[in-house]
Amino acid sequence: MKVAIDGPAGCGKSTIARMIADNFGFLYINSGNLYRAVTYLALEEKVGWRHVPAMIALAQRHRFDYLPDGSVDADGKRLSGELRTPQVDAIVSQVSAIPEIRAEVNAIIRSISEGKNVVSEGRDITTVVFPDAEVKLYLDASAQIRAERRFRERLAQQASDKLSDAPSIEEIQKNIEMRDKLDTRKAVGALKIAKDAVYLDTSDLTIEQVYEKVYKILMARIGHGRK
Ligand code: CDP
Repeated sequence: MKVAIDGPAGCGKSTIARMIADNFGFLYINSGNLYRAVTYLALEEKVGWRHVPAMIALAQRHRFDYLPDGSVDADGKRLSGELRTPQVDAIVSQVSAIPEIRAEVNAIIRSISEGKNVVSEGRDITTVVFPDAEVKLYLDASAQIRAERRFRERLAQQASDKLSDAPSIEEIQKNIEMRDKLDTRKAVGALKIAKDAVYLDTSDLTIEQVYEKVYKILMARIGHGRK
């Protein structure tokens, strides 16, 4: 069974996907982390995102894999905290707009998902990666609420990883709005609401309330599949 979740930054899709993975024993795939890994390596190797052939070569040169905790393995190195920096946030949407890089990421997701129960989240999971997913969700919330949530996450990350440069709420909201714009206007793999997705506005809901709704949707679908 495939559960596909799309939505903009900070809508709660990673948290909900993890809860589904833990409670139903599904494999969790955070698709965005692979775009972030390519972006991180481009920054490390000083490859400019505008230099498309060099970006494609970089993505093909490295070996990537998704790890069960949602992080990414790049050439045998686990990447996690380094994927969530302001530097990566600033250009990941531009990197992920390159169709050849999208094709690489989609192939990796499909290959590790084969024959498994999977919950995957991102921008084009319901529309491109798993258009036949049994459960499709689109999570949403206002940009302000999403920025507040992301700010709290970054503060927690800053404390645990001892990072010095946590951005302000205003900076986060600006980045979220910039990415929303780029992500909805992409020529390939744009963020959109699939016709057959359940739309949930989570602005006024706690994560537990969102999960309660999602749980009911999943149970109804699992029950339907058994008939
Ligand atoms: O966690 P957050 O929602 O901030 O972002 P993410 O899921 O880590 O994705 C980072 C960026 O990768 C997004 O802003 C998109 O530009 C891109 N992305 C994409 O194009 N397609 C996906 N399926 C997932 C992410």
